[in-house]
This record gives sequence, C-alpha cells and structure tokens, in this order.
Amino acid sequence: MTITSANSSTDRFTTPSLTQPQPWHRALSEPAKEFSATPLKVLSGKIPFNLQGTFYQNGTGRLQRGGQSVGHWFDGDGAILRVGLGEGHAIGTYRYVQTQGYQAEGKGNRFLYGNYGRRYPGPIWRHVKGLFTASSVKNAANTAVLALPDKLLALWEAGNPHSLDLVTLETKGIDTLGWLKTTQQFSAHPLQDPLSEEIYSIGVTPLCELMIYRCDRACRLIKQRNISLKTVPIVHSFVIAGPYLVFLISPVAVDMLSLLLNQQPFSEAARWKGDRGTRILVIDRETLETVSDSQADAWFQWHYGNGCIESDGSLRLDFAKFDDFLAINAVLGEVPTGKITTKAYGRLWQLKLNPKTGKILSNDCVLDQDCEFPQVPAAQTGQPWQHTYVLMHRDGISTGEDWFGAIGRFDYDAGTLIKTDLGENCYGSEPIHAPGEDGSSWLLVVIYNAADERSELWILNAATLGEPVCRLALPQIIPLGFHGTWKPS
Ligand SMILES: [Fe+2]
Repeated sequence: MTITSANSSTDRFTTPSLTQPQPWHRALSEPAKEFSATPLKVLSGKIPFNLQGTFYQNGTGRLQRGGQSVGHWFDGDGAILRVGLGEGHAIGTYRYVQTQGYQAEGKGNRFLYGNYGRRYPGPIWRHVKGLFTASSVKNAANTAVLALPDKLLALWEAGNPHSLDLVTLETKGIDTLGWLKTTQQFSAHPLQDPLSEEIYSIGVTPLCELMIYRCDRACRLIKQRNISLKTVPIVHSFVIAGPYLVFLISPVAVDMLSLLLNQQPFSEAARWKGDRGTRILVIDRETLETVSDSQADAWFQWHYGNGCIESDGSLRLDFAKFDDFLAINAVLGEVPTGKITTKAYGRLWQLKLNPKTGKILSNDCVLDQDCEFPQVPAAQTGQPWQHTYVLMHRDGISTGEDWFGAIGRFDYDAGTLIKTDLGENCYGSEPIHAPGEDGSSWLLVVIYNAADERSELWILNAATLGEPVCRLALPQIIPLGFHGTWKPS
C-alpha cells in the first residue's frame, strides 16, 4: 500500500507493440462457465463476521459465438455473479441472464442480432422493423444490477430490465416494472436516494429525447419527464446532488441515418462533436423540472463518483473524465481481443457549480492518475462525502499497457490517495462498498489472478485498504465485469 500525493503521476505514455494478448485476456477468451450455489474456499484471511449481505456483479460472460468474436466488449451476453456473505461463510453462484437473444443465438451457435459494436446481420427491412420493435438488437442484460426488495434486475443501456431471482439467479424474463413500454429504455445506472429510497433512472430515445424517471423503492413510476435534445447523445449515467439530478451531456451525436441504414453499428455511428462542448443539466429531483442548463468545455465521462450540495449552496460532483469519446470507446472495443493499444486516460475530476444558474465555479483534476469506476458508499449517495474509491493502474502502468491492477481511495479533505497494488498478474474490477453491521466498512472486488488462472473475491478494509482481509476462491473464472451492488441482509 502507498499513500501519495494525488498528483504524483507515474504513468508512462508509451505505446506498446502487442503480439500476444495480455495476461488478463484469459478471463475473457472463453465463455464463462456457470455454477450453482457453492461454498467458497478461503484462500487467506477470514470473512469479517459483521459483513452480512449479498454481493452481485454483472458483466459479459460470453464474447464469442460460432468462432466469431463480438464487435465490442459491450456486446457480450450478461452473466451475474452472486456471493452471499454471513456468519463468516460465503456462497457463490454464477448464471447467465437467459435473454431471448442469448437463447436464440445459443440454438444456432451464431450471432443473430445487431448490438453496440455489431451491425445487424440480416436484411435491412428486418433491421429497420427491428429498431422499432426491439427485435433486431440484442438486449444483452450485461451492464449492471439493481437489487429490489423482491427481485434482481439485470440492466442494459437501451432496453427493458430483465428480472432474476435474488437467490438462485433464475431469469424470470423481461420486466416492464409495470409501466415501461416493451421498447422503452431503462438505463444501466439507476441511483437510489438513501434517505427517501426513491430510485431514479433514465433512457435516451432514438428521437432525441432524454427520459428521466422518478420511482419509488420498488421501482414503480412516480413521475416521468422527457427532455428534447438536438441529437442522440450517449448519456450513460448521471448523479444525485442533494435535491438535484445532474447530467453532464458530452458532445457525442449518433448518426441515426447510418444506424437506420445499417451502415454502421452504434459504436461507430457515434460521432465526436467536440466544438459543441458539454451540456450541464441540473434537474429538480421532485418535479423533474430544469433548474439550470449551461455549457462547458468538451469532455466525455461514463461514470460519476458522487454529488452533493455544499454548506455554501454550491453543487459539487466528481467523475472520471476523458478528453474525448473516441479513444476510450476504442479501448473498450479492443478489450475482447486482449490487446489494448489505444491510449485513453481517465482522470478523477471535481466540478463545482451554482446549481441555480449553472455557472461553473471550478472544474479541476483531483487525481492525475489513470482511473475509472469511481464509487462511494451507497449511504452517501447525493450527500457530502470525503472518499471516492477508484479502480486504477499499478504504479508505472497505464491504459494500453495492462488492465487495472490497483484500488485507490482519494481523500478530498487531505487531498491524498491511498493506493493498494493488487500484485503482479492480478487484475481488478469495480470496487463495491459494503458496510459492516457495527459501522465497519469494506470493499468487495472481483479479482482475476492470471498466475493461478483463477478468479477470486477480495474483501478489503475500506478505511485502510492494504492487504485484503480475506481472499475467496471462485470455482470458475469470472470475466472482467462491469458493475455491481451490495444488498445488506
Ligand atoms: Fe457503466
């Protein structure tokens, strides 16, 4: 573990020449194997007794079909890891989401659908019809999970959720939540306010509309507002900040004609329009009305850490900032090959603005080291917070040289970073915070240990990081995943 100034970057900006896939690729190179409820072997340490609940993580279980590879990492079939923790024991389960597309492609062992990085392989008339009926694009259910009181939702950016059994992970099917149209988007990054328990989500329509949903704790719709946009952007996520929702809408415009004519898949039809800058929308959480609508320089982000209102009334948020969309999108497209050569650097930035006018008060890089997947404890969502956790690179490594091999905790009060190196040939995923029952605080991270060709679940002390307090062996390799959650008992 190292404690450093957050701006002592040691990234090397060299371009490697890769002839072989990188070691982490073994975790993606073959379809993942499911396993039913299995007690997990402790490799080292002890499971904290005060850690009681369930960890879920979604990701792509399968990136190949019939000898072909997907067009982009985002196209793989969703599969969920569940680890139940309690009284010092851990039970793991891993299941594919039985989407209609997964089942249909499995029967013929070939790709049948278009997706984010793949054009629809059939005739154009069927493609066009399919765009309006959600039948030519595969809802991969692969991006994130939302644990509701009575079901688990497997989420994907551009369609309905799938619901699964919270314990067995049996897929129950597409879930309209009782109010979504069957073609309606319910994005992969809903947020729950820890005080009211209300859930917020969004969707972007092909008709240039941002749909904002305000729901109760069971995801029943309370209110919806549609905001007209001039183009179809990529709005992957947003942030709660006190009484507001904030959207940083980067200048990506999808060429809908190219998409409609099946000339390019979504990933390639997404154009970067840097001269248009980033639009900042501040929305009242209760009424969903626009509070302010302003502009900033151009950048791109997939993910936010958190947001809040400060004591002086200013709005503060942080996010993993990229200079543009194209490079990081190319990196993510290269992941299935195991050879990442494109350079794209995420940095943790903090933005402060006046929520009522949209005037930017400051917008600064706070952690000048390559990182992604910023996270805070769920109980602090929308509230003032001190620490943001990130997945980052080992010292001396940057994107293009290897996959993320370290976990960081940035301290806003001290302006310092605690960084834990996962070790040689160990690769991480999004760190998920889990509170213990006595006020203790843990991080759960799925690790791919390339030396032993094994996936592990590590439990770290969230206050200190350092060596894991427990390493659990997973019975099968779990591919590098996207997003997870913690459901307390
Ligand atoms: Fe995401």
